[in-house]
Amino acid sequence: MTHADRLLAWYDRHRRTLPWRAAPGERTAPYRVWLSEIMLQQTTVATVGEYFRRFVERWPTVEALAAAPLDDVLSAWAGLGYYARARNLHACAQAVSDRHGGRFPEDEASLLALPGIGRYTAAAIQAIAFDRPASAVDGNVERVIARLYAIETPLPDAKPDIQVRAARLVPQQRAGDYAQAMMDLGATVCIPRNPRCVICPLMQNCKGRKLGIAEELPRRAPK
Ligand code: ADE
Repeated sequence: MTHADRLLAWYDRHRRTLPWRAAPGERTAPYRVWLSEIMLQQTTVATVGEYFRRFVERWPTVEALAAAPLDDVLSAWAGLGYYARARNLHACAQAVSDRHGGRFPEDEASLLALPGIGRYTAAAIQAIAFDRPASAVDGNVERVIARLYAIETPLPDAKPDIQVRAARLVPQQRAGDYAQAMMDLGATVCIPRNPRCVICPLMQNCKGRKLGIAEELPRRAPK
């Protein structure tokens, strides 16, 4: 079994039910992936749940959100912090409506050209909404990869190496499930302190675990 097979088998048994996640075997609409990923930047899964539900109830499509007055979006965003993100959210909804007829593009370059969409969000949308084998590396996934390969170079210098290794692991099949499995593994098993290695589906593959340094990784350059 490859690393991806093991991880996907684990995900099939342990996947978290989250408000933006589709039922097993179904794809999540790009609008929902995008909205949840923007909300999840710097805000916890627990907090985002209610906001996400309220947003999609009030604005069920990207075009509905684009047509909303900015002030309504900003007040619905209150409590999530970082108003620049809410402004970008609204600007992005308008760009998707104007440039793309209300449908999120699938290719990386078009996604990156949209307001507020960076490398991570573009990859998450490609993988989760379109099942394209894109590599979505956030802080949780960085930790998983740093441990898996026992990468001792401190962050941020290790980032390019982590990106390359993460990308090599992405399977051609079930890329969306794989991306979410990596996120869940980082959030629930490969956690910063006291990682739960004994229940980890990747324990046999993990160099950090073998060397007894998993918990110390990733290292960070002193400020
Ligand atoms: N953290 C960031 N994006 C996530 C997602 N799609 N599922 C679970 N946790 C996440």
